[in-house]
Amino acid sequence: MVTTRLISVLSFSGILGAAAASAAPYPYPFESCRPSKTGKGHVCVQNYIAGAVSGGQEFVDYGQCEVVREQRPYWFVPPKGGDDPNDPRLQDPVFKKEYSWVVAQIRSVGCSCCHTAKSGVKSTKWDLDSPGVFADQLSAFGLAVFTGENVDFHRLARFDPKDNYGFDQSKTAVPTQDPERFKAFFMAEATRRGITADELRAQRRFPGGIFDVVKDQPTTACEPGLGVHADGSVHWGQAAARYVYIMKKGTENPLGPPSLHRPEGTIWSLRMISAAEPLVSGIPYGTRPMGGRQEVPALDQKPEPLKQGETYKLFVAKDMLQTAVNCEFVFNAD
Ligand code: HEC
Repeated sequence: MVTTRLISVLSFSGILGAAAASAAPYPYPFESCRPSKTGKGHVCVQNYIAGAVSGGQEFVDYGQCEVVREQRPYWFVPPKGGDDPNDPRLQDPVFKKEYSWVVAQIRSVGCSCCHTAKSGVKSTKWDLDSPGVFADQLSAFGLAVFTGENVDFHRLARFDPKDNYGFDQSKTAVPTQDPERFKAFFMAEATRRGITADELRAQRRFPGGIFDVVKDQPTTACEPGLGVHADGSVHWGQAAARYVYIMKKGTENPLGPPSLHRPEGTIWSLRMISAAEPLVSGIPYGTRPMGGRQEVPALDQKPEPLKQGETYKLFVAKDMLQTAVNCEFVFNAD
């Protein structure tokens, strides 16, 4: 299932184009564990497009690709090229070693949920199971994403490598345990095709589209009645909300988990779990309704009391990246 929201998220983001629709809310990343295939212990994984299992293991064996495919839409674009098992490059031991490593790295992360048939769907656009070299299937834009040259890392929500088996997404859009080595492989592919680093940088930015729209959206003055009232109730108008934030004035707009959903300056943030109904305006500040999860401050803490006469930002979203209200109000305790 894919939400209508995700269609707009990803068609705007420039990486994806169209998808089937349903109304399920965005599934927040969560950790789950399965018994290890080695027979020893369990392997735990973050169910997220950039979640990883440790190097050499495959995400599809432990992660829930059906969840990942609700975070990003899937549709099928037949991969082109990369189908020659006798590709002379595969006879070169140095190339082959690097290629095998790169493929194994991608198999360890959530990207594989739509780019290998083992995930339960046909590989779209580029196929890790290609009999030849799958890198041939990437466009210049694809190479830019893989080398990180067109990636705006300030807009890419990612895990700290220490929480993700060392997989680092701060230099390439694919999380990898060795960004330099990963990047070098795809830079070499670009060079082979006569594409320069400048040309990669000139590709459309990733992530773009709706991420830019939300990030750059200006915060306006709240309409009368919106904001936190003297009795502590939070008002945002008609929208049914899954995310509610009270922030310091000037705080940047939140993007997605796992790293951009609680920008510095967030005083209180609440999200509704997927199974819960969205919220109706008027909830008391600092309380946790049924099905609500407090993200800021920590679960067992109360947010700081708001100060009389101080300006705050109210940010409310109907679902991930679907802003309903983004405004500033002055708190009046009287
Ligand atoms: C839920 C499915 C899904 C997941 C997971 C997924 N992708 Fe894709 N990806 C797609 C689809 C669908 C396309 C094809 C878009 C088109 O061309 O219409 C695509 C295309 C791409 C392209 C464009 C290739 C080109 O040459 O233009 C890149 C790059 C890419 N994916 C990178 C990634 C990375 C990196 C990850 C992991 C962080 C990832 N994908 C995870 C669905 C997915």
